[in-house]
Amino acid sequence: MQPNIVFEPLREQALFAQLPMPAAEGIEGAIARAIARVGRSLPDFRQSFPAPSSEGQMYPAMDNSEWTNGFWTGILWLSWQLTGSQDYRTAAELQVADFLERARREVNVAHHDLGFLYTPSACAAWQLTGSEAGRVAGLLAADLLMRRYDPTTGVIQAWGDLTDPAESGRMIMDCNLNLPLLYWASRETGRAVYRQAADRHLAQAERYLVRPDGSTFHTFHMDTQTGAPLRGTTHQGFADDSCWSRGQAWGIYGFTLGYALSGRERLVALAKKLANYFINRCDETLVPRWDLIFDGGSDEPYDTSAAAVAACGLLELVRHLPLGDPHRDLYARIAWAMVEQLDRAHLAALDTSNGLLADGVYHMPKRIGVGECCLWGDYFYLEALIRLRQVWVPYWL
Ligand code: GLY
Repeated sequence: MQPNIVFEPLREQALFAQLPMPAAEGIEGAIARAIARVGRSLPDFRQSFPAPSSEGQMYPAMDNSEWTNGFWTGILWLSWQLTGSQDYRTAAELQVADFLERARREVNVAHHDLGFLYTPSACAAWQLTGSEAGRVAGLLAADLLMRRYDPTTGVIQAWGDLTDPAESGRMIMDCNLNLPLLYWASRETGRAVYRQAADRHLAQAERYLVRPDGSTFHTFHMDTQTGAPLRGTTHQGFADDSCWSRGQAWGIYGFTLGYALSGRERLVALAKKLANYFINRCDETLVPRWDLIFDGGSDEPYDTSAAAVAACGLLELVRHLPLGDPHRDLYARIAWAMVEQLDRAHLAALDTSNGLLADGVYHMPKRIGVGECCLWGDYFYLEALIRLRQVWVPYWL
């Protein structure tokens, strides 16, 4: 434990200690229900992809040009691992070829979401099947991501043209999940430059995106001339000084992965700090409202995708806590309670939806995908389930 990272205790510790531990029967039932939904959608999305979020609970089909396409290919890889059905693998392999082409032709890759796109698709293909196309695509994507790293600020610019004054020097919490691509590229090539950029970005994210109370800014702006910190803002949250639920979940998971990849020990305590803040602002269902400013009795929409990401983060965090750490047991119980609640109360209807997890929120300020299925929510829900089965080697590490 790092003494210099102070964080709030879990509010309902005694209650959480009584939650059940993950149990094989419950996990297998939830996997069966999830796979039933993926299997139904597979015929419609072999050569096309579901859009980022559903419309009226149905994902429209689209080509490989969004930041979210990798989640569908990731869902196919997870489904192959969970079922052994060749149909999923064949579809995933077709899509990996498409990802290689996208990277070669640089189709809508001028943003930081290259890790979201290429880790669960191309890098997974390389890890699972030794796919050379996957490896080449992943390395091309890592080089594209490196173009956005600015040594003056030490951050990877999230969005927009590198010369756009509104966007240059802006990092966002979500990027923590894009960094594993750089660590992977360093391991694959033996070149330190990728890891050095990721280490630096991670340190800047820790320093500027996390507030003293354990909440987080969604985005932070740096001065690209001097490298000085400017201000925190939000993009998808309620307000600049509120805490967007999914951003916090990206932080829990991303800093935990960051610890595993960089070896920077204080990130474990930092991830716990973010986790406790997140958990303490959920109601008894352990699914957060879309922004953590709405805790307690609010009737603002839930964001199930934030719960799915947080569950994966907690399950990863458990792997790195020593046996004697009381949070280890509590986080395992809480993660399972989140997943059980998603399975019990938030599965998309089999007959009227082609999604997996209902009740997500993509972008509340723009009113996009509110109360809909979100493709990353579906992916991380399935990832949480395969983690719970304890047979999975994470693609992100
Ligand atoms: N990374 C964008 C989002 O979480 O909506």
